[in-house]
Amino acid sequence: GTAHRIPGYTYGEPQLEHSPVTIAELDALKETLLWADSDDQALRMAGDALADQVGDVVATWYDYVAAHPHLVAYFGPPGGAPDSEYLERVRARFEQWILDTCRRPYDDVWLDYQQEIALRHTRAKKDQTDHVDAVDRVPLRHIIAFIYPITATIRPFLSAKGHGEEDVERMYQAWFKAVTLQVALWSRPYVREGDW
Ligand code: HEM
Repeated sequence: GTAHRIPGYTYGEPQLEHSPVTIAELDALKETLLWADSDDQALRMAGDALADQVGDVVATWYDYVAAHPHLVAYFGPPGGAPDSEYLERVRARFEQWILDTCRRPYDDVWLDYQQEIALRHTRAKKDQTDHVDAVDRVPLRHIIAFIYPITATIRPFLSAKGHGEEDVERMYQAWFKAVTLQVALWSRPYVREGDW
């Protein structure tokens, strides 16, 4: 694949720190989300439906972020203009994330990169990957609220490939679960030790 050529994309690389989340904790979260084998299948189907559309999907999300000054603010220095180079570098990783969400096994390697993505939104690691001078954290409340647009906007892309309404609904529900699961994981470094 071409994934290794994406600047700053370090999925599966040995220098990554290990996720503090256990597979048992992951399984419990999936159970809360009523995760079934059919969701794994639906995500594979979604991966095939979305594969040649990831550019358009992320363009939709970027338009959404750009239209909201309180969101695009995190792509620039405090009070300053958004850094377009930063936005473009993150765009490539965001596109890859769509495929990873649909196609990667949710195993230890995946958990480690979940931890990395989480930290890249926090004071611990934001801005470091792209060596930029931007606001140093994305507040957790915005990440939680972003579950809705990331989910609602995916539907037209899932239905663009001629699947029946039932398959579109299965893919949509599985996508919603997968995004919620990841945001639950990403909340960990934001909360007080012992409270996650
Ligand atoms: C980075 C997804 C919420 C701002 C990323 C990346 C992904 C992602 C996949 C790239 C990870 C990588 O480096 O491989 C998401 C999802 C969200 C969410 C699924 C919620 C459901 C937000 C919100 C903001 C935001 C609300 C604020 C506008 C950023 C920024 C980066 C980033 C600034 C670059 C971080 C860095 O410096 O490395 N996000 N994000 N994200 N996201 Fe989010």
